[in-house]
Formats: sequence, structure tokens, C-alpha cells
Amino acid sequence: MYYPDELVEEVRMKNDIVDVISGYVRIQKKGSSYFGLCPFHNEKSPSFSVSQSKQMFYCFGCGAGGNVFTFVMQYENYSFQEAVKFLADRAGVNLPEMEYGEEAKKRESQRARLLEVNKEAAKYFYYQLRSERGQAGYQYLRKRELSDETIKKFGLGFANVTSDDLVKYLKSKGYEDKLLTEAGLAGFDEKYGMHDKFWNRVMFPIQDSNHRVIGFGGRVLGDAKPKYLNSPETMIFDKSRNLYGLNFARTSRAGNIILCEGYMDVIAMHQAGFTQAVASLGTAFTAGQANLLRRYATEVILAYDSDGAGVTAALRAIGILKEVGLTGKVLNLEPYKDPDEFMKNLGREAFEERIKQAENSFFFELRMLQRDYDLSDPESKTRFHREIAKKLCGFSEEVERENYIEAVAQKYHIGFDNLRKLVRSYAAQTGLAVPASRPKSGIQKKSDPEENKKKPQKLLLTWLVEEPAAYQKIKRYISPSDFTEDLYKKVAEKLFADLDGGRLNPAAIISQFTDEEEQREVAGLFNTKLMELESRADREKAFHDIVLAVKRNSLDYFSSQLGADVSAINQVIEGKKALEELSKTHISLD
Ligand code: GTP
Ligand code: MN
Repeated sequence: MYYPDELVEEVRMKNDIVDVISGYVRIQKKGSSYFGLCPFHNEKSPSFSVSQSKQMFYCFGCGAGGNVFTFVMQYENYSFQEAVKFLADRAGVNLPEMEYGEEAKKRESQRARLLEVNKEAAKYFYYQLRSERGQAGYQYLRKRELSDETIKKFGLGFANVTSDDLVKYLKSKGYEDKLLTEAGLAGFDEKYGMHDKFWNRVMFPIQDSNHRVIGFGGRVLGDAKPKYLNSPETMIFDKSRNLYGLNFARTSRAGNIILCEGYMDVIAMHQAGFTQAVASLGTAFTAGQANLLRRYATEVILAYDSDGAGVTAALRAIGILKEVGLTGKVLNLEPYKDPDEFMKNLGREAFEERIKQAENSFFFELRMLQRDYDLSDPESKTRFHREIAKKLCGFSEEVERENYIEAVAQKYHIGFDNLRKLVRSYAAQTGLAVPASRPKSGIQKKSDPEENKKKPQKLLLTWLVEEPAAYQKIKRYISPSDFTEDLYKKVAEKLFADLDGGRLNPAAIISQFTDEEEQREVAGLFNTKLMELESRADREKAFHDIVLAVKRNSLDYFSSQLGADVSAINQVIEGKKALEELSKTHISLD
């Protein structure tokens, strides 16, 4: 199933990590490494480092790290296999056809066929828009103030008035009826036979984050219903895991994402230079989409319609954003209906100003809540304050909660102590919200007792990568079996074998793990922060302590295994001897 190790290594060596990452992130040389703003979490000062000599990257802020494959996997959302393929293409390395099982092969080729037919359809629509027959569509888009450049950038097109135009074209290209219906491009009925799904509409191809067309939205030219027609979900079109405009927004580096409701909004925003705008795909915003956004920003600005439906949708979206740990803000577009209209009337600078004034989502929620209460009536006002207190229990972190209590008290003229008491009493009744778990966020977990055992092992691995010469000094005392964590032991086995062979290649060790999380952890092992120690004596002392701690932990471990594991006795005897020697020995680093 996998590519051979040598080939993977060849691909890795032909893709210099500094080169590849420079294509995505602006990095600058500082000392022996390059530094830049981490693309995997939001930050203001650079803690993302790339080492050319080690061919690894590591973020000291969020712990993201790995080799060139890991980077591409995380940034492009690729599997290990896909990352290898992508980088092989980049460097012009030929890969053998992968051996798939029958079932997988069929699925893969079905996906490929669907992508192909969508692309073909997109090209057809695009061409029609520019032909005589597509003039009505073209004029419509121009009337909505889209420039030729914008029309081109989004690949907009036109589905003709005739009802089997596309079907005929695609069939002439050799695509079967079955594929056309499966792709949602055509339907079949007794009366009309095969017919196009879209006709007489301007067409918006929907692209995934890698610019592949996965579906379409089609808009009528006038006021007919339904206004938009969207492709059905297919094997390649999952509406809950894609966003319109994300293929451009993901590289905008604006620091935030603007979430709109409609395709036209997204396009108008991009045209005005706000390339961080995206929209959901004719369905409500989902947790899957929120998770997707988390890769690119920590703050999401909601630019939903200012009508009742828009407010309801915004309130729902705020909850979803919160669940995945994103901060939400709400844009006020009044007196206009949506971002598109706002932009047409007030323009880019006014919009920029509204972004600056975007409302904290919690205050937005309170403001919307307030509409149900009459604050001139003490009874109603009290109920409103109770609701506020209940909502404040949603902040599980004390500092944050206190800050909000303070801000809310001031804004709504409630006594701070009174409000705090009220919150406490609700918290006592119902408990505080438990923070949402954040898989893959890279936010470092709190240290636990286990961490004390792991730390010296990590430090030792980092040290050996930084100073391979030290290996010769300790190899009589330490072996891979002294690493009591499974993953660390595997890494130590590979690292020690490399060091014995007189070569050091930490980045190659990383690609022997195909799981993104494992790669991140291995990269972490090679990038533990070592203390900056000036004097040689201090460094030698620190190194000695680390080696001693690793050995001691290993001895404890094997002592606890006595009786359960027959080989433990040898490990214990050897461990005691080594510890005794070590405590008498001075390890010199020169
Ligand atoms: P314009 O009127 O062209 O400016 O549309 P818009 O981009 O402002 O969209 P609107 O706010 O009216 O709707 C938001 C999104 O909801 C659209 O982009 C569509 O994805 C979806 N949508 C709107 N109308 C319909 C409809 O009639 N049917 C379906 N399935 N989806 C719709
Ligand atoms: Mn609109």
C-alpha cells in the first residue's frame, strides 16, 4: 500500500523544506534557522521555525512540527500518500502506480471521473458565458458590477436556455448517462429523457480548497423561483465540509475569515480586496466547516444578512464557532441587506471601518436577547439579568468569566458584585460549561506527572540531534530500551542506528511515521526547548542530569516489570550498574 522508503526519502530530499514552506509562509533567516508567523495558529510575533540543516519545521507556540511531508499534510489537508504524490510532482519524481485493493480502486476512479466531468462542465459553462448565447448571463453579471477579471477568477459561467445542451456536449465527449446523473448535472425522466439540471442560469462552480470543481450553484437571471439551484451532494461534494471561496481565502493571511451567506457576497468581497471571505453552500453553517476554518484563522467575522433570518443564522453560527474554539464577531451592515449591497453603496473603506467595529459575539447575543425584554419593567429586567447570568456560566475559564462579568455589568448598568453573585448561584446549580475538546489544535496540554518521566527522554533525543558527537559519550549507558514511551523507543532505535552509522537524518525518521499526529510528536522530540547554557561546565552538568534521569526512569520501569517480564531482570542488573558508573563519571562535551 505504501511507497517504498527509499522513494519517499528521495522525494523528501528533492524538496528542500525552506523552499517549499516559503511558497506558503513568509520566513526570514535569523541565526541558523528561518522564522515566520505560524500558519497553524494565529500569532503576532513569529514562533514558527524552519531549519534547513535539519529539514524540519517546528512552532514553539503551538507545537506544530515535522518534516516537509508533515507541513504539506497539515497545510493542504492531505494524507501522507497524497503529500508524497504532491511533492513528487513538484520535484519531477516519477512514482509507481499505487497498489490498491479492488474496492478502493473503484472508489478512487469514481471520484476521479466525477471531478473530471465537473471540470468539463465548468469549462463548458464558462465558454457559453462568453458566446453569443450566453450574452444574457454575461450582461446580468456585469449589471451586478462584476468585472471581467472577477468573472474569470471565479470561473463563472452560463447554462443555456435549451434543456439538454450540456448533456449532449458531455455525451459527445464520451461520458455516460449514469455518470452525468451521479454528478448531479443531469436528470432523467420518461417524458424528456436525459435533460440538464441547470438551464438559463448563471453558473457558480464550487471549488474545494485545492481548486477542484466539486459542484455548482446556478442563479436565475431575474426573480423566478427557486433563486438558486445547487448540485446535490455527491461522493465529491460534501456540503458540510467545504466552503465557497475557501480556495482563495485560505491563503489570504488577513488574520481573520469573513463568513457570508451568499455566493454573490463572497465574490463582491473578493472583488473589493477582502479575499478572506467565504460562504457556506446553500445550507446552514456546520461544525465541520468551523473545524476547517480553524486551520486558517482564530477569528471569524460574521457578515450575515441583516434581516431576521440572518440574525437567527448568525446566532447559530456563533454557537458552532465557540464549540470549536474560534472567536466570533458580528458585522453590522445596516442599513444594507448584505455585504454585496453594502459594498456597492458604501465601498471598501466603509466596510473596513465596519470590520474594526465588529461586535463581540457575546454582546451581540445579549443585544438580540434583550429584544425580548422590557427594561423599563423591573420584573422583565430582572428576568433579563438572570438570563445574562446563565449565559455567563458558559465561560469556564475564571479570568475570562470575570472579565465578561465586569464588561457586562458596566454595559448594562448592573452592580458588579450583584452580577457576580448571581452567576455564582447559577453556576452552583447547573455547573460551569466544560471547555470543548480541541483535537489537533496543537494547544499544549497541561503538564501531568507522566510528563516528568517523559521530559528527560525528549530532552535527550533533542540533545543528540543538536549535538550528535555527544552520542559517543553515552552509548555505553543508554540504549533505545531505556526509552519507556513506545513512540520514543521507536524513534530512539532509528536515531541510534543512524548515529552508529555516522549519519544523522532526523527528517527522514519523521517520514517513517505516516500519521500526522505521530509526525508532530516526533518533530517535538527533536525540538524540545533546551536551556541556553553559557558555560561548558553548566552544559555538561545539564547533560549529565538528563542522561541520569533517563536511566533512573528506565530502572524504575523495569523494576516494576520484574515478575511480569523475564528480560526485565537483565535490564535491572544492567541499569543498576550503569547508574553507579554514571554517577561517578564526568561526561565531557567537546
Ligand atoms: P443574490 O440575490 O444573487 O445577491 O444572492 P445572495 O448571494 O445574496 O444569496 P442569498 O443571501 O439570497 O442566499 C444565500 C445563499 O443561500 C445563496 O448563495 C444560496 O447558496 C442559497 N440560496 C438562496 N436562495 C436559494 C434557493 O432558492 N434555493 C436553494 N437551494 N438555495 C438558495
Ligand atoms: Mn445578495
